[in-house]
Amino acid sequence: MAMTERIDEAFILVEPAVAARTAQVYARIRPVIPTFKWPQFAPDIDAILRLKRERNAVILAHNYQTPEIFHGVADIVGDSLALAREAARTDAEVIVMCGVYFMAETAKLLNPGKLVLIPDPDAGCSLAESITGADVRMLRQRHPGVPVVAYVNTSAQVKAESDICCTSGNALRVVESLKSQKVIFLPDEYLAANVAAQTGVEIIPWRGRCEVHVQFTAQNVSELRESFPGVAVLAHPECAPEVVAAADFAGSTAAMTDYVAAKRPSRVALVTECSMGDNIAAQYPQTEIVRPCRLCPHMNRITLPKIRYALETLTHEVLVDPASTERARASIERMLALR
Ligand code: 13P
Ligand code: SF4
Repeated sequence: MAMTERIDEAFILVEPAVAARTAQVYARIRPVIPTFKWPQFAPDIDAILRLKRERNAVILAHNYQTPEIFHGVADIVGDSLALAREAARTDAEVIVMCGVYFMAETAKLLNPGKLVLIPDPDAGCSLAESITGADVRMLRQRHPGVPVVAYVNTSAQVKAESDICCTSGNALRVVESLKSQKVIFLPDEYLAANVAAQTGVEIIPWRGRCEVHVQFTAQNVSELRESFPGVAVLAHPECAPEVVAAADFAGSTAAMTDYVAAKRPSRVALVTECSMGDNIAAQYPQTEIVRPCRLCPHMNRITLPKIRYALETLTHEVLVDPASTERARASIERMLALR
């Protein structure tokens, strides 16, 4: 039997040179990618790895990207906060954001001189779409003098009208850093309520919701505990407060990953987007990952063929309205300056 056949039968269907160049990637993702699917991914992964070198490009991928992207082609992975920090640091000439549009816009704001690409410009976010710059101006009129915290899941126009940005990883710290008795916190009303539960600061919320996390209920958490005895339940703070209260831990996508890395629970339920469970399963095969599983349709618009096309054609370029650029960047930089 030939060597490639013994390594894995998937390699029989992949051109030998491609199989050799992608062998290390395959070793990383084989716990979560069925063998029969590898021939579908290997040629695009091989081409993307080559194009990255030719274009001096870096691929940033959010924790919700599918494993063939997350473990296959990304240079930097993380939550929204980590991606914003890394976007500010990179030396690459081209940044490809595998995530949703507001993440690519944040990368562009922090790298005005670089070419920032998003493989699918229609990758939106229900939170970012729930509020406009005019809504923020109206809130300021209604609550004169009250500082505005904008969740990073917002457009550049909304960030420009705000005092400071936050992510789910630093929301409490950002709110408390303002030293104000009242804070307008937008647009996620659940994240606002979850922050309010941890601080004495009065939080004035907006009415946005994440279309993925809104689907989870406290009843789901009870059912998970019944069906999977001993399970540690981790929830994203975009879930409703009663879901967060029923969970064992709530935190950003990075904080959930860190929880698994540090505590190595034998069984964990991730009350968040599905792909994150696949990515953690590839890294920690000894932990049983229970996936209540809701897919983010926007994150899932990003695929390997679209990333390959983006690098081949240098599309779709992300540009920010010059009227918003300076003030939006200042809001992000104020957040990044907080340690
Ligand atoms: P994180 O900042 O936790 O990665 O969350 C981003 C997001 O869009 C969650 O739905
Ligand atoms: Fe937006 Fe929710 Fe998708 Fe995150 S999971 S990108 S908050 S719609």
